[in-house]
Amino acid sequence: MNIVLSNKREICGNILSAVLGETGVKRLYFGEYFRGEPFAEIEAAKKPSILVETWDLKGIERILEVEGVFLREFISIYKDIIVYSLEFPRECSLCLKGRIIPHYWSSRDNIDEMAREGRFKGEVIDNSTFLVFYENRLFAVKCNQNLDINVKKSKVEFRAENMSKDFVLVASGGVSKETVLREVSSAVENPLKIAGLRAKWIKSLLSKTRPLQTKRKDFTDLWKYCWYVILTNRSVIENHPILVKPFNMPTKYVFRHQWLWDSAFHAIVLSLYDVNLAKEELYNLFYAQKPDGRIPHEIFLSKIICRRLWHVDDYCPWTTQPPVLAVAIKRILDEKYDRDFAKLAFEKLLKYDEWFSTKRDADQDNLVSYIDYLESGWDNSVRWDDPVTRLQEKPDYYHSFYPRARMAPVEAVDLNCLIYIQRKTISELAKRLGDHRTSEKYSTLAEETRRKILQYMWDEETGFFYDVYEDTHEKILVKTPAAFLTMFAKIATQKQAEKLVKHLFDPREFWTTFPLPSVSADNPKYDPKGYWRGRTWINMIWFTYWGLVNYGYLNEAKKLALRTLELMSRGPTCYENYNSSTGEPIGAPDFGWSTLVIDLMKDLERRKILD
Ligand code: GLC
Repeated sequence: MNIVLSNKREICGNILSAVLGETGVKRLYFGEYFRGEPFAEIEAAKKPSILVETWDLKGIERILEVEGVFLREFISIYKDIIVYSLEFPRECSLCLKGRIIPHYWSSRDNIDEMAREGRFKGEVIDNSTFLVFYENRLFAVKCNQNLDINVKKSKVEFRAENMSKDFVLVASGGVSKETVLREVSSAVENPLKIAGLRAKWIKSLLSKTRPLQTKRKDFTDLWKYCWYVILTNRSVIENHPILVKPFNMPTKYVFRHQWLWDSAFHAIVLSLYDVNLAKEELYNLFYAQKPDGRIPHEIFLSKIICRRLWHVDDYCPWTTQPPVLAVAIKRILDEKYDRDFAKLAFEKLLKYDEWFSTKRDADQDNLVSYIDYLESGWDNSVRWDDPVTRLQEKPDYYHSFYPRARMAPVEAVDLNCLIYIQRKTISELAKRLGDHRTSEKYSTLAEETRRKILQYMWDEETGFFYDVYEDTHEKILVKTPAAFLTMFAKIATQKQAEKLVKHLFDPREFWTTFPLPSVSADNPKYDPKGYWRGRTWINMIWFTYWGLVNYGYLNEAKKLALRTLELMSRGPTCYENYNSSTGEPIGAPDFGWSTLVIDLMKDLERRKILD
């Protein structure tokens, strides 16, 4: 078989993965290869707590604590070689029963240096370093003390000298870096807590600065790197009932499942490269659709993890996520109309929209609600602070219409703008497919949603759009970039748009160093480093850019895009989010939807603003 890699390699590096069989390559994949249930066998394992987790292009570094002992681990990847390094105090007595699992994969291959040093040649290199094949992958494990290494068929056991207790390495997620840092600094200040175990050593690890900044003069590198990210985040899962098509993980550093709105954004970017890849990105979401029409929030690789987090016996949580799907479908079909895909997408969207009407619109006013903060995609946003409190005050009342609600239901402005687009898209698709009745029905429904957004969500006094409570239609007066989706969806009037643009360019509100903080900077709860409480997210910039273009604010759109590109170009990759006050990247690197800037660059190029 001849495989030509030259063009792809140039941008994407190792985009192909191979599964080795008994006699050579068993299967070749476009995308990295994962297994369906990575956690199945380690469910019962003792979990270390992660005190510090830092990601950069070299890999992931973690400081862990297990039973009062601190460990440092470093995980990276070189081509198909997973590099795992572990350091711990020489005098500690721990037993390491190593089951290193593919959960640790990161996607970078820039540790050529290590490879050049020839450390990956043999099997056991010395008594503290060894290489091993595990599940058709090659692992390099390095430890700072002598190890007994026992390579078995399906697992590797490695024992340090003087071991007594059992310890199995597993990953645990969900701890924010801020929490971790807080905990560690308090531990370092409190010598009792660290029980004399290497306070100095931990301090020195914490004080290490990481060389992240590489200045660039133009956006060429960012452009290439974004392509690299969107193409190499592709993954293939074997033995999975829903994840049957390749799809993009939001970032292999930390988010290793398929997410609904992330994939819609990925598909938008992929459609600029190859519409078939863009379509492929959406198929698993279609397959995951529930009989009642809901398209789930996430599709986990592992049922066990899903159960642990969501208390359901399923690969998917009970929630959905912002319905950006219709936007992606429209992009794909505008790029190249394909009747079969249009028909499938139409059927899926129609059922999905019916689900919103029956399960997320208790007051039947054609504005739908979020009933869970994670469902909104804006996990810990200031928008949900009051709704969460309200539910806690009157749980029985709210649970009487939404038994699973974790906040008082909110008719969110962005959600309903997306629903408006979804309804219009259904209407357009129906028309094209010859179903005129559905087309008319959905056109009327869309119009009704638009009317209600204008009626309930606009506040003349402050000149802004707000979320409203479903039961009272009272406004939640928190200004966020969600309001700019009214311009993306072409719902705001020209006059309203004018007012929104004033807010956007006001340095006290949204025009911060890295513009569009996830809550306006004049909100007392604004925290430029707070996840959805003040960091800047690129998907919001993308919506707003197109919103500005829709209303003829071309210079403003250009200003927003150029500022974004300039700041992103200072870092080596496209990060999950940015400190809105300093512009520094935070969150995970190689983040999929941040590659939406490719779409902005293309548009600037069309307008001859960029070459
Ligand atoms: C975080 C974000 C959510 C996103 C997910 C995967 O939970 O808050 O919006 O979909 O990560 O990237």
